[in-house]
Amino acid sequence: MSIKHYFFGTDKQRAKFIFDFIAPVYGIIGGAAKKGYDRICIKLNRKVALKDYTILDVGTGTGEWLASISHYSDKKAVGTDFSKKMIEQAQIKYPNNEYIVNDAEALNKFDDNSFDIVTASFVLHGMRENDRAVVLKEMKRIARKYVMIHDFEDDTPFVVKILEFLERSDYINFKKYFKEELEKHFDNTDIVKCSRTANAVYIGLV
Ligand SMILES: C[S@@+](CC[C@H](N)C(=O)[O-])C[C@H]1O[C@@H](n2cnc3c(N)ncnc32)[C@H](O)[C@@H]1O
Repeated sequence: MSIKHYFFGTDKQRAKFIFDFIAPVYGIIGGAAKKGYDRICIKLNRKVALKDYTILDVGTGTGEWLASISHYSDKKAVGTDFSKKMIEQAQIKYPNNEYIVNDAEALNKFDDNSFDIVTASFVLHGMRENDRAVVLKEMKRIARKYVMIHDFEDDTPFVVKILEFLERSDYINFKKYFKEELEKHFDNTDIVKCSRTANAVYIGLV
């Protein structure tokens, strides 16, 4: 990936270029976000006892969300990401979990119903609706019990808005429509909100 992919590439090439580029410093941002992740997982664990669940985290980045959500379980926890450089950072920061370089839209190496929870944190808002639908379908296929999407819900801080603009993400539509999009895939849905971080975990029950 090169800078030309940022300006002239597809949405996916641009995202991959950005995340490969920022991987060496993303751990610092991730480290700062980890406390918020832990906080929302405390609430999530009260709703869905997380212990004893195997977890697949799609777009794991430097591994913070996977570390937070898998804290309650001794079972297998696997993170995937299309950025090899992000995965390399995750392997250093959270070596107890497993990692695989893989595109979220092609999770075919994972069998149907092979993980209790399939989750993604701050990944889906970066994609357009049709790509989100492909990823959600794949996540649902792999999940035995829950699909959990941790992402934007309420007000977005100004600095984050600038970053989302540079990424040319779809976070505005995500916040408006994601609940409805999730309901197209799942008969039963739920939400755990974290008012301090203005984020939520959108839950689809398989
Ligand atoms: C904003 S970061 C979030 C990282 C981590 N989940 C967290 O919450 O800290 C988004 C991550 O999703 C990954 N990603 C974006 N699109 C992807 C795709 N199509 N397939 C796999 N990974 C993807 C990026 O490489 C990046 O690591």
